[in-house]
Amino acid sequence: MKNKKLAAVILAAGRGTRMKSKRSKILHPLAGVPMGAYPIQLARELGADPVALVIGHDPENVRDTFAEANVQFTLQAEQLGTGHALLCAENLLRDFKGSLLLLCGDVPLLCADTLERLCDQHFSQKAAMTLLTVNLPDPKGYGRIIRQGEDVIRIVEDKDASSEEKTITEINTGIYLFEAPLIFELLGQLGNNNSQGEYYLTDTIELAREKGLKVSALATDHPEEVQGINDRVHLAQAEAVLRRRINEKLMRNGVSLVDPSATYIDADVEVGEDTLIYPGAVISGATRIGCDCIIEAGSIICGCHIADKVHIKAGSVLTDSEVGKNSQVGPMAHLRPGTILRGDNKIGNFVETKKADIGEHSKASHLTYLGDTEIGKDVNIGCGTITCNYDGVNKHKTIIEDHVFVGSDTQFVAPVVIGRNSLVGAGSTITRDVPPDALAISRTEQKNIEGWRLRKKKKSD
Ligand code: UD1
Ligand code: CA
Repeated sequence: MKNKKLAAVILAAGRGTRMKSKRSKILHPLAGVPMGAYPIQLARELGADPVALVIGHDPENVRDTFAEANVQFTLQAEQLGTGHALLCAENLLRDFKGSLLLLCGDVPLLCADTLERLCDQHFSQKAAMTLLTVNLPDPKGYGRIIRQGEDVIRIVEDKDASSEEKTITEINTGIYLFEAPLIFELLGQLGNNNSQGEYYLTDTIELAREKGLKVSALATDHPEEVQGINDRVHLAQAEAVLRRRINEKLMRNGVSLVDPSATYIDADVEVGEDTLIYPGAVISGATRIGCDCIIEAGSIICGCHIADKVHIKAGSVLTDSEVGKNSQVGPMAHLRPGTILRGDNKIGNFVETKKADIGEHSKASHLTYLGDTEIGKDVNIGCGTITCNYDGVNKHKTIIEDHVFVGSDTQFVAPVVIGRNSLVGAGSTITRDVPPDALAISRTEQKNIEGWRLRKKKKSD
C-alpha cells in the first residue's frame, strides 16, 4: 500500500559559517528568491503538509521572510547536530502518522523528479527510511555510505571515518524519507559519542536495523541537484544553474534570448511568445512581459507589467510600472514606481517618470521629468519639459488634459491644470491653470540690440 500522507521538515538552523554573513544562509537570494524558498516550494510540489522549518541562526529575519509561506517554525536554540535538529520538529508533528521528507534549507537545486523516485523506492521496498545518496569523485567532507551488498549498514562522517572508509565515493546528501512517528522514537535513543559531540541523524540507520527494519538508499545521477551551498562561490554556481533553468524554460515556451548566459531573469517573471530579449537585460520581481516585445541590452525591469508589442530600448530602468501595448520606452529612460503608460506611448531618451499616469498616444520623447502627474490622450510633451512637483515641503500634481501640446523647455510649477486642447509656448514657466483651447506663454519679450557685439569688440582693441 502506497502511503500518501506526507510531511516535510527542512533543516536550516546551521550557522553557515563559510558564508561569512550576518544573515541566515537561507535568506541569501538565488535568482531573486531567498534560498530557503526552494526547498519549501519543493515540499509543496510533493504535496507535503505540514511543512516545518527548523531555524536557529538569525531566527527573527527568517520568520519575517517566510511569514507568508505557510510553514511552521521550530527553534533549535543550540546547534547540537542534525539528529537533534529533526527532534526539534517533533512537537509540531506529534499527531502526524505517515512519511516524513527531510530536506535541507541550503540545497536549492533539488528537483521533484528525484524526490518522486525516492518516494517510489521507499514505498515499493516498504522501507523505514530511504536515503538519497550520490557518487562524488571528491567525497571529502561528506558522510560516507557503508554498504553490505545492496544494504546500507550505516553512515560514517568524514571526521569519524577510517582512511579506508574515506576512499568510499558514495556519500550522504542529507535528504531522506522517514516513517513517522518511528523516526522520532529512534532519535530519542541517539547518543553524541563521536568526534564532534553531535547528535547525528545518520546514526538512526543502525538503530532502525537493530529493530530489523528496512533501510533503503537511492543513488541519484544528478550530483548538481544535491549540492549544498556552503559559501558564496557555491551560491554563484547555484545561481547560474537556476538562471539556466529559467531561461531554458522561457526559450522552450517561445521566448528568444539572444545570449541566455548573459540574460538575468528571476524565477517569478512571465514572458510571452515571440518576445526577444537582448543580453544584459535584468528582469526581476513579479514582472510580466507580453508577446512580441523587444527588450534591448541593459534594460533593468523590476515589478513591471508590460503589455504586447512593447519596445524597451537599451539601458532603460523600469520599476513597479505599467507599460501599455505598442509603447516605446528609451533608450535610457527611467520609469519609476507608479508610472502607467496607457498604450501607444513614446517615452524617449533621458525621460524620467514617477507616479505619472499617461494616456494613450501621448509622447515625451526627450529630456523630461514627469512626476506626480496625470496626462491625457494625444498629448505631446516637448523636449526638456519639467514638472516642478516639489516645493521643498509637499508634492503637488500637474494635470494635463487630452490633446495638449507642450512646447519645449516648459516648466509646470505644480499644482497646475492644463485644459484640453491648449498649447503651451516653448520656454514657458507655467504657474497658473490654463483654460481649454488657449495658448499659454510666459516668456519675457526678446530684445535685439543691433551692432552690440561689434561695439564691444572695438572697445577691447
Ligand atoms: C550532514 C550529514 C552528512 C552529509 C551532509 C550533507 C549528519 C550527521 N551528517 O553533515 O552525512 O554528507 O550533511 O551535506 O547528519 N543543521 C541544523 N542543526 C544542526 C546541524 C545542522 O539545522 O544542529 C542543518 C544545517 O543548517 C544544514 C543541514 O542541517 O541545512 C546539514 O548540516 P551540515 O552541518 O551542513 O552537515 P553535516 O552535519 O556536516
Ligand atoms: Ca527656460
